[in-house]
Amino acid sequence: MPFSIELADVSKSFPTPAGLVEAVRGASAKFAAGEITAIRGPSGSGKSTLLALIAGLERPTSGRILAEGKEVARGDLDPYRRRQVGFVFQSYNLLPQLSSVENVILPAELDGRRGPAVPGRGLALLEEVGLDAGQARRRPSRLSGGEQQRVAIARALMNDPPLVLADEPTGNLDEAVGLAIVELLCTLARGRGKCVIVVTHNPAVAARCDRVLVMHGGRLQVA
Ligand SMILES: Nc1ncnc2c1ncn2[C@@H]1O[C@H](COP(=O)(O)OP(=O)(O)OP(=O)(O)O)[C@@H](O)[C@H]1O
Ligand SMILES: [Mg+2]
Repeated sequence: MPFSIELADVSKSFPTPAGLVEAVRGASAKFAAGEITAIRGPSGSGKSTLLALIAGLERPTSGRILAEGKEVARGDLDPYRRRQVGFVFQSYNLLPQLSSVENVILPAELDGRRGPAVPGRGLALLEEVGLDAGQARRRPSRLSGGEQQRVAIARALMNDPPLVLADEPTGNLDEAVGLAIVELLCTLARGRGKCVIVVTHNPAVAARCDRVLVMHGGRLQVA
């Protein structure tokens, strides 16, 4: 069965001193392998919270999240996060003291895989996202923003997860570089069969995606 992720009436609220914040309210949607979906919406509408729920970084307050038909939030989320999800952040979140390729192979090491094939796979992934061996040896601070985001995408692919989530991946990049990053994410969906979900404020980025959903006040709707 091809991978899919399904949200069924998912809500998430946070208790705060000022009262309960209902960040996500009754979200239902299905995301398929081979498809890239954009999620737009105003600041504070719940986009990052929704992505964190799908990534297994947060548990829903109510409702269910199903990956390949199985409920995600039951039991230990660690294996799900490590093997099923690749996450790309606006600020890249690379470790500054490691080289690019060392950053890329980190998810495999955290998953207990260390063999001699691991660095080779890291280099191959960097090549796939358009970076050469010289760039692979460099630390992130010696790469441009667009190159750092390519490293982050390669890292997200290291454990070959079926699901790739990106929260504002082009937010720190200029228009042309940002669109190149989105093209790369589109290729992951259409060429590699990944299920890709991209949170973005940028209409040009959303326009490249197969489908656009919008969040308003915690509610998820078709654009
Ligand atoms: N851990 C938390 N504790 C309390 N409130 C939270 C928490 N995380 C998010 N919120 C609140 O939930 C709401 C939705 O936040 P979220 O970060 O999901 O919005 P967003 O759509 O990603 O916004 P932006 O476009 O600015 O990134 C906001 O009101 C936020 O303050
Ligand atoms: Mg956000």
